[in-house]
Amino acid sequence: MAFKQRVFSGVQPTGNLHLGNYLGAIVKFVALQEHYDCIYCVVDLHAITVPIDVWGGPEELRRNTREVTAAFIASGIDPNKHIVFNQSQVAHHAELAWVFNCVARLGWLNRMTQFKEKAGKDREAASIGLYDYPVLMAADILAYRATHVPVGEDQKQHLELTRDIAQKFNNDFSESIRARGFGEAFFPLTEPIIQGPATRVMSLRDGTKKMSKSDASDNSRINLTDDADAIAQKIRRAKTDPEPLPGEEAGLEHRPEADNLVGIYAALADKPKAAVLQEFGGGQFSTFKTALADLSVARLSPIAAEMKRLTQDTAYIDSVLAGGAARAEVLAAETMNAVKDILGLVRR
Ligand code: TRP
Repeated sequence: MAFKQRVFSGVQPTGNLHLGNYLGAIVKFVALQEHYDCIYCVVDLHAITVPIDVWGGPEELRRNTREVTAAFIASGIDPNKHIVFNQSQVAHHAELAWVFNCVARLGWLNRMTQFKEKAGKDREAASIGLYDYPVLMAADILAYRATHVPVGEDQKQHLELTRDIAQKFNNDFSESIRARGFGEAFFPLTEPIIQGPATRVMSLRDGTKKMSKSDASDNSRINLTDDADAIAQKIRRAKTDPEPLPGEEAGLEHRPEADNLVGIYAALADKPKAAVLQEFGGGQFSTFKTALADLSVARLSPIAAEMKRLTQDTAYIDSVLAGGAARAEVLAAETMNAVKDILGLVRR
């Protein structure tokens, strides 16, 4: 069966977008526009699954939703050729999630490692939304019958659950699916496009920890909104080790900080790490850091400036989201109507 090749991905509006989000996700989203029809969603309904003091309340949520949208556009996602919107504007996500709640099994969700991590010790106090998070994610993807989803390593298990839900739906309703003329399968088995470890950006203060918005030290991360001075200063202050840079990649082993900075350079220059080491190997860190600071400023500060401009133009951002939602809704409604027919839910 031929499903239309379509990319869907989501980013939570949790604030403080940083270089890790940019290199790990947004750069990939930009590249995929060349080869696929893409739908990029700011998943605000996922953001509210954690306690309110974590997601920050209504003002923060509004601000962060617009900021992620601005980051998408400033980074080169074209909201006219592709679709950019926020999840809560298309009610079909939540509606399809309910149907999938009745397809997914308790045992499947009980195996989700991210829930266990996020819920922590006091699992009884976790929201039901946090538990159900992966089902809503499956609905996000399958509302558009997306065939490909770019995600990080940490979301792989959720993608597997999405496939399990699609497969069980296809099996449980195979007769009805065929009778309605949808052939052998209604939902595709969505493939992850996993970002390799090469673009796992680590903290500038500790090369063994992921760069994170919640790190207490702002020097540990380059925020997408940092200006040129802040970027250069954070790179100058980044932790290193006393050795000069190695000439080959193998020499980066057990040198997490060096590895991280070389990885960032490679990703920003769109070159393999080996090529970066060929250029800078044997030299002092200070020389490399200067080059890295220059490259980072050249690549990131125009994005920061454009984000600043866009976030001030709330009316424009909101019009992008509204336009994207209207187009997304047409596609999601088509899926939802078919799902209703397949299930036997009488509709208008
Ligand atoms: N869970 C994803 C994350 O935290 C965000 C997300 C929600 C998503 N729905 C999605 C990603 C659908 C890909 C597809 O990164």
